[in-house]
Formats: sequence, C-alpha cells, structure tokens
Amino acid sequence: MKITVEQLEGSQLKPLYQDDSQLGFGRIFTDRMFSMRFVNNAWNEARIEKYRSFTLDPSSCVFHYSQEIFEGLKAYAAPDGRILLFRPDQNARRMNRSAERLVMPTIPEEDIIQAIEELVLAEKRWLPKQPGTSIYIRPTMIATEAFLGVHPSAEYIFYVILSPVGAYYKGGFKPISLYVEDTYVRANVGGVGDIKTGGNYAASLMAGYRAQQKGFSQVLWLDGRERKYIEEVGAMNMFFVYGKKLVTPKLTGSILPGITRASVLELARYLGLETEERIISIDDVIDGISSGEVTEAFGSGTAAVISPVGSLYYKEKDFVINHNEVGSVTQTLYDKLVNIQYGREEDPFGWVREI
Ligand code: PLP
Ligand code: COI
Repeated sequence: MKITVEQLEGSQLKPLYQDDSQLGFGRIFTDRMFSMRFVNNAWNEARIEKYRSFTLDPSSCVFHYSQEIFEGLKAYAAPDGRILLFRPDQNARRMNRSAERLVMPTIPEEDIIQAIEELVLAEKRWLPKQPGTSIYIRPTMIATEAFLGVHPSAEYIFYVILSPVGAYYKGGFKPISLYVEDTYVRANVGGVGDIKTGGNYAASLMAGYRAQQKGFSQVLWLDGRERKYIEEVGAMNMFFVYGKKLVTPKLTGSILPGITRASVLELARYLGLETEERIISIDDVIDGISSGEVTEAFGSGTAAVISPVGSLYYKEKDFVINHNEVGSVTQTLYDKLVNIQYGREEDPFGWVREI
C-alpha cells in the first residue's frame, strides 16, 4: 500500500507533553493521523497527515446506526531504543472479524499493520520512556455514507490515531474494586458483545456511571440471560486464581476475545500454572472468596494491562480478595508480560514486533 506522508515542522507541531509520568489515558494526541477512504468498493487515498477534525454529513450512517468498529494496541519503547508492537497481527485479525460482523469492508491485515507502523515511526518523538508508559494506538472504522434508511453504508473511513499514555486506572498497579452488575447487561450471545464496536460501550455507560457514583472502579458484567455467570469487565477480561489454577470465563460469544487474555493463558502455562477456561458462576467465586479457595483475581486488557482486583461488591456485600493486596500469581504474570512487551526480557512466543 502506498501511503502519502504530510511533513510537518516548526510551528505546525504541537508542544510535547511536559512530564511523561503524568500522562493519564487518552487525552493527548500526536501531530498526525493515518486515514484512508472506502469508496466505489475500494480502499484508497491512504495518507498520514495532520491530526484534524473530519467534516461529515449529519446523516452519515455512523451517527445514526453506530456502524463503527475499533481496535486498541500499544507501541513500547525498549531500553535498547527499539520500538515494539505487541501482537499487531491479532488486532488486525480481530478488526476484520468485527468488520465482517457489521457488514463493513475488511482491510488486508498487512495494510493495517503497515498503516500502524508507518504512523508510529513518523510520530516517534511522542513515544514516552517512563516505566508503564506507551503510545496507545486506536485504529477505527466509521460508516460515512449519507442516508437515513437502515442498511450497510457504501462508504467508510478507516483511521488510526495515537495517544501517549500512562496507567489506565488512576491508582496505577493497585487493586481495584468491582461492582458486580446484576440489573443491566452488556451483551447477549448472538449479539455483538464479542466484537469491538462502540455500541457495546454506549450500552455499558449507565451501569458504569452508577457504579462509579458508589465508588467502584468498574462493573463486572454477568451473562445477559440469567445474570449468574461471570462475563468480563468494561475494558478487560477477568481471571481468578484458585490456588495454583488460573481460571477465566470461556468465550461463549458475548465476551470480547481479548488478546491480553489469550497471552496471559499462554504465559501462565509456560510458567507451569494450570489454566482452565470455563463457565464461572458468580456464586462459585463468592463462595471461593469466602472459603479462601479463590486467592487472587485480576483483569487483563491492552489499556489495563494486568489489573489486580481487590474486592467484589455483590448484592450489598463487599467480598475482599487477598486482603486487597496484589497476589504473587498476579505479580508474576504482570512482570513477565510487561517485560516481554517492553523488550526487557526475551520473547519466547514471537509476540513482539520491532518497527
Ligand atoms: N473486554 C473489553 C470489553 C475490552 O474493551 C477490552 C479492551 O480491548 C478487553 C476485554 C481486553 O482486550 P485486549 O486484551 O485485546 O485489549
Ligand atoms: C483497550 O484496552 O484497548 C480498550 O479498548 C479499552 C478501552 C475501552 C479503553
């Protein structure tokens, strides 16, 4: 794919952030973005150009019927100066799976990766170096055809924006408290819960807002049919440690198949832990916490990395896990994963890709 690159210099460039230990998540964007358009059944006009607003018709399909998908991955600064991506092929593949589900055009995986790599390289002055920081990469596709009938758009924009980030949760690597949601649901089997589309997040806002008002970091979703089985958290998959066994909800069709989730499972087996993907009832977890059988819990995601979970609030009661402290399995998996992502340790899986 041929990408046209706009050169920017001097006063066209934004001032860089001052302190990369204070980045937060997703508020700062780099100087340039990648975009290309799908018209007349083909992708064209691939370009890297100044980060700017789009002009879209108010009747554009994305505004009315949410024909939109996105991805999330990160670029990391290795101590030896290399710039590394973590499993970008998996993000490209999932993006296309999301596209197919919403009747959107796919993009050759190598073109998605090329767009990401060329953009990150062009914007490398934004790559933060402090531990725990990275560039968060957000590939997105929106339906831009102007009409009001309900049918797939014939026109799209695919774009990639970059945001230098620190920790997703304000407290950093500290146990978070989750509110087990037993009224609202996120997704149902047969719906779109297993792809990355904006509507899933819109549907989650009310429950998230209410949980935050009560002082919880995020919602832990239960299944849509019986409100009995654990699904995932707003932006991460869930894991529970039962002694030496790592257990995570099985992919039933309403959960996002997280790339970090798949990596944690492989890593755990590599480190000699037993793993199990199964249907997990909330009662089983609550009983396990009470009896001491569940020794740790954590979430996994690109933005959230591995986030220890210190307590679950369910039916008006708080269930504290591992004295609200980071457990040894969580810590070991976290250390190993981030060491691979940041190129501080050898990657036996071939996951990291140097740009
Ligand atoms: N579940 C949801 C709903 C998410 O938004 C994310 C974030 O991408 C994840 C799980 C974790 O997925 P991944 O590990 O691929 O980032
Ligand atoms: C990610 O981890 O990439 C996500 O998409 C989470 C996001 C909703 C902030």
